[in-house]
Amino acid sequence: MPTPRSLTTAPHRDFELEVVSGEWPTDISGEALYSSPQALGDLPYRIFDFGAMCRLSLEPGTRGAGPGRFAWQTVSIETPGKRLWNRHPEAFSSGVTGYLSPFGPPNSANTAPLPWGDRLFATWDGGRPVELHPETLEFVAEVGHVDSWGGNSLEMGGVLPFLLSSAHPVADPERHCLWSVKLDVVFEPVVGMRPSLVCWDREDGTRVRHWPLEGITFDGSAHTVSQTRDWVILSDSGNFKADAGEMFGGERTATIEKAVPVWLIRKEALDGLPSGTPVTPVCFTMAPPSGHYYARWVDTDGISVVWEGMDLMDLGLYLRPDDLDVNGRPVDPAVAGLYNTAMAPETITEVVFDPESGKVLEQGLFKEDWTFNLQLSAMDWSTEGMGNPTLHHVDYQGCRPGSISARAAALYEGRIDLDLLREETPGALCSFERGSMALAARWEYPDTSDHITSPTFAPRSVGSTPGASAHSGRNPGGHDGYVVQPVCSDDGLRIELFDAARVGDGPIATLMGANKEAIPLILHSAWSPAHHELVEAERLSFSSELTEAALGALPDELRASVHEVAAELDGC
Ligand SMILES: [Fe+2]
Repeated sequence: MPTPRSLTTAPHRDFELEVVSGEWPTDISGEALYSSPQALGDLPYRIFDFGAMCRLSLEPGTRGAGPGRFAWQTVSIETPGKRLWNRHPEAFSSGVTGYLSPFGPPNSANTAPLPWGDRLFATWDGGRPVELHPETLEFVAEVGHVDSWGGNSLEMGGVLPFLLSSAHPVADPERHCLWSVKLDVVFEPVVGMRPSLVCWDREDGTRVRHWPLEGITFDGSAHTVSQTRDWVILSDSGNFKADAGEMFGGERTATIEKAVPVWLIRKEALDGLPSGTPVTPVCFTMAPPSGHYYARWVDTDGISVVWEGMDLMDLGLYLRPDDLDVNGRPVDPAVAGLYNTAMAPETITEVVFDPESGKVLEQGLFKEDWTFNLQLSAMDWSTEGMGNPTLHHVDYQGCRPGSISARAAALYEGRIDLDLLREETPGALCSFERGSMALAARWEYPDTSDHITSPTFAPRSVGSTPGASAHSGRNPGGHDGYVVQPVCSDDGLRIELFDAARVGDGPIATLMGANKEAIPLILHSAWSPAHHELVEAERLSFSSELTEAALGALPDELRASVHEVAAELDGC
């Protein structure tokens, strides 16, 4: 069974892992964090369900683990919307893009962990970033009053804001702000999304600022925000489109684009510009579409970006229980609700955007027949590492015909080569040299029932060296440290640890659960030093967003629960 059934059947739980092979190094520290959609509401597409934050401590005997053991902890993210669902699950309907309710759409916060200094956030595309307590992982607050975001993305009523955002906002180490995006659904001049650049200044959690991109409407999503020192980079991810027909019960007909627009905004242009004022971006076109792209912080020699292509990876498509796969076999009921996997090998490239000429200059490109399902990557996120990146580590999960539906193949007829999609192929963890995108190392997973996912780069620990940064480690860039590689399997989760400079040598140590525990689907990961205290800051309260009009539209019983949740959160 190539895709582990445990991705949808394993429960979320706390457990301990132990070293089962190799030797765990002493110069690794901190923890790896993983976002995960829980399987709570029987949603047809599981990636929209309420989020949990999982945490693997990389130091034995910490976070409550026994001596020599490693703690895996999972905490459900109890946003206001989740608390209302706990009280009234029957009031929530399950659609192909998540939950709807008289309260409004809940924030699932299920896609990516975002450590920012000593603070921790969880993010997703359908809501605001959510702050979590760094010790308990419990919900603390959402970021920015809905009015400061410029109001709802689409008026849907209720007490829960509807804000289409980015699952990958980016923290600016010089301006001490978080850059994100907000999408407004517009009907003129055409139906589409109007993007605004969003900036959250770290000290004040009650408000953000936003600037609509002058004249831009598009039909897609904005999954990632990236930056250099002087520029913010937005893009149409191109690989996710909401299909209105499908949302109302019809068959999906939307398909992803072959090329997407990219928008660059100079940070300086926003200095002193009142929130709400339109700003004109510099526009580019890129192919293939990409869910994830990462710019080099230093831009004195150009705006250099790793562009992780998602060629023919349509994240709007999910597997239904009645689907046949691309080989005409019924799909395993255990993979129903997961996404339809890639239908072509993926391209990774490094490019330079030149705002003067409007040209995109290709620096290096890698694509082979086996580069299927480039899903997730690991890099050094420290400011020093982003300034001078060396290695970029990527998981290719391999071709998975059992998770490509015949429906998808029909929808993309003429754009895909079915002969490439007949056989399962091994996954691989690969390291690429930044700049040239030359393949520096590759470690293959020939057992196709191994599902590699969510790699994380952990810098070599600086220990107690005076003046040294725990975030950047000894030698920043992505080569001096470790790649933490979860391998999901029905035989139990393995955490394989690689020397980041020598991924091709294979794991230097492996952890497994003491009872060979398997884990459910996890999405993005991040590394962070271990933090324990919730820092003092100005934060948004749920009660401050409640209006008499929104409350008055609710039946008495639901309104009473809103007051209860508000009081509960105010009491925290
Ligand atoms: Fe993502």
